[in-house]
Amino acid sequence: MKIAICASEAAPYAKSGGLGDVMEALPAALSRIEGNQVVLFLPYYNKIKTNTAYETEQVAQFRVQMGWRQQYAGLRKLLDCPRGFQVYFIDNDYYFGTRTGAIYGDMDDGERFAYFSKACLDAILALEFTPDVIQCNDWQTAMIPVYLKATYHTTPLKHTRCMYTIHNIEYQGWANASFFDDVLGLPWEYRGCLDMNGSVNVMKGAIETADLVTTVSETYARELMYPYYAHGLDGILARNAWKLTGITNGIDTKVFNPETDRNLPAKYSAAKIHPGKTQCKTALQKELGLPVNPDTPMMIMITRLAGHKGLDLLCYIARRLMWEENAQLVLIGTGEAQYETFFRELEEQFPEQVSAQITFNVGLAARVYAAGDIYLMPSKSEPCGLSQMNAMRYGTVPVVHATGGLKDTVPPCDEAGHTGLGFTFQSYNADDFYGAIKRCLNLYENDRAGFEALRKRDMEQDFGWDKPAEKYMDAFRKMLSW
Ligand code: GLC
Repeated sequence: MKIAICASEAAPYAKSGGLGDVMEALPAALSRIEGNQVVLFLPYYNKIKTNTAYETEQVAQFRVQMGWRQQYAGLRKLLDCPRGFQVYFIDNDYYFGTRTGAIYGDMDDGERFAYFSKACLDAILALEFTPDVIQCNDWQTAMIPVYLKATYHTTPLKHTRCMYTIHNIEYQGWANASFFDDVLGLPWEYRGCLDMNGSVNVMKGAIETADLVTTVSETYARELMYPYYAHGLDGILARNAWKLTGITNGIDTKVFNPETDRNLPAKYSAAKIHPGKTQCKTALQKELGLPVNPDTPMMIMITRLAGHKGLDLLCYIARRLMWEENAQLVLIGTGEAQYETFFRELEEQFPEQVSAQITFNVGLAARVYAAGDIYLMPSKSEPCGLSQMNAMRYGTVPVVHATGGLKDTVPPCDEAGHTGLGFTFQSYNADDFYGAIKRCLNLYENDRAGFEALRKRDMEQDFGWDKPAEKYMDAFRKMLSW
């Protein structure tokens, strides 16, 4: 099958969050399937353009019509593509090449990514690569299914099907009504499908026009029918429920592998967890200036410090937890100032127990995954979540709010720590979170053999991308059969 994937980020080229990880691993997994030809389109951001590791060659140039303007596009082919799929960059200095800040957050993001979406379709035509399916992601590429239906139905793309995947419904790509004529330049009959309360909402347009809509876990696909989760799009999604499915993400098990991870001071595997994992713990305690004791349970959290990650629950119980338990807490992340301050103060108050690393660093994150015993992830909502899977892969037992992908990837243990993969709580409430942490600590303290068996079970899970990639293939075939 010929598959084109369009995204605003993909590791290692450009990444701001989980989408970037998925866009690294999913194209690779799809291209491992026999008979597939996969290409990935990304914007040629300044930091890609100026990175000498990424050598490219220009293979086409064309003009992209955006409302009344025409914008230049260069199509650059990445010469060394080690993962089995071809990467192309859309080159435009005005929108991407000369901006040196973060990849999102400019005033004209709506226009930048509408341009990128249209340029991807024009690039596909320029390459004379007629894909069977286009898979696109989040609001940044939401205009692809709309343009495909509205203005490309007379091109060789007339039989190409389009899957739209929602990784984060909070960011929908809102613009005021004039954006429709001024920037998008679509036939008037498409106004309705993009209109939401008098404004333009590109994610709504994608849901209405894509052949299939997917999201990144099965539970989240069901949750999106409810106002609590859908940020205003519940009605639209409920109306399109027939074409909405959830496919739970995987993680890159090559990158996240405690047997080979070069960031770790000691290596280990499910077959032989200790002493490697204990050595990782004592080394981290030393590194962070915490009392060195392999028996002290270590709780960890690696997260963006954003409200929906459930930090308010942790803030509410953190002091009680530190007073009552002989446990350590290591947190890494940056984000909202109120949380950065809270965790800095918590560290000051409990220097023997808490280490707050207000930073982000891949090497340190790996060492923390490996050192931990318990991974805290109380997210208010979580489309999929990848870090709970990374944690399990490194033998760190998750304690999670049973929502979205957390519910799908962490089946709950009973009191004795049997059967499941971690400890969960149902309602978004700090005392329930506390109770789940307490059950996990009890197991660690009173039944170490039981805790170690659970840890091993977590490490033995197959969180790789091969199975999810097969589900994507089934969904692609379903679209093609229509
Ligand atoms: C977004 C979601 C996260 C998901 C990731 C990759 O970052 O918030 O839950 O794992 O996308 O799909």
